[in-house]
Amino acid sequence: MNYIYEREIEVCYTPALFPFYNPENKIVVVVDILRATSAICSAFENNVKEIVPIANVEDAFKLKDQGYIIAAERNGERVDGADMGNSPFEFLEPSVRGKSIAFTTTNGTQAIEIAKQKNIVVIGAFLNHRILCNWLIHQQKDILVLCAGWKGKFNLEDTYFAGALIEYLTSYSNFTTTCDSAMASRSLYLLAKDNLYDFLSNSSHFERLKKLNKLDDIRYCLSMDKTNVIPVLKDDVIVNICSSN
Ligand code: MLT
Repeated sequence: MNYIYEREIEVCYTPALFPFYNPENKIVVVVDILRATSAICSAFENNVKEIVPIANVEDAFKLKDQGYIIAAERNGERVDGADMGNSPFEFLEPSVRGKSIAFTTTNGTQAIEIAKQKNIVVIGAFLNHRILCNWLIHQQKDILVLCAGWKGKFNLEDTYFAGALIEYLTSYSNFTTTCDSAMASRSLYLLAKDNLYDFLSNSSHFERLKKLNKLDDIRYCLSMDKTNVIPVLKDDVIVNICSSN
């Protein structure tokens, strides 16, 4: 008898809710649209060698002596003494090509840290939406999307991305969901998809980044499929497993 195995997608809105989910044997897609996971996709599009995600600033700076570039952000701003902050445009600079980067951010790298258990961790952003979806379709695994949020709280931009992922996977493959947060993500995405930038314009991190003159970062992070990368965590290091890049 032929079984068509329907795969399940769930969405966890914040790292604080992660203990309520069971990630075992699933693929966990970590998303921090503004801006950690968008920056990671940009880095690999620019052929950065590897990125070590690190939860706290002190541990990241310890890798300086081993030749790592230190990218560190807190509250939207570059940490004093770091080589770079968290803008995706910094990760597109020729100077980082081929290099190893130690990366710490307010929420994104914390979410990656929490996500790594008995499962595969992959990095998602609008920038790699299509290639990631097509890769997920070919894995025989259930999916849990972990939104980085903001300091334990819900945010809209990660939720929109979760919705975009669900919309694609349920439309083009045998994915299903009975998870309320997944259904709500999809509904929100469908409402906002024709103008994500405007829909986000009153949101908390939009306001925060606007005050820091980072509107170009927001526009870029909301653009679809600008990169052809699949960043995956392997032995605590993020590498790009997409050979076409
Ligand atoms: C984060 O990890 O919290 C974000 O990427 C923050 C930011 O870049 O503004």
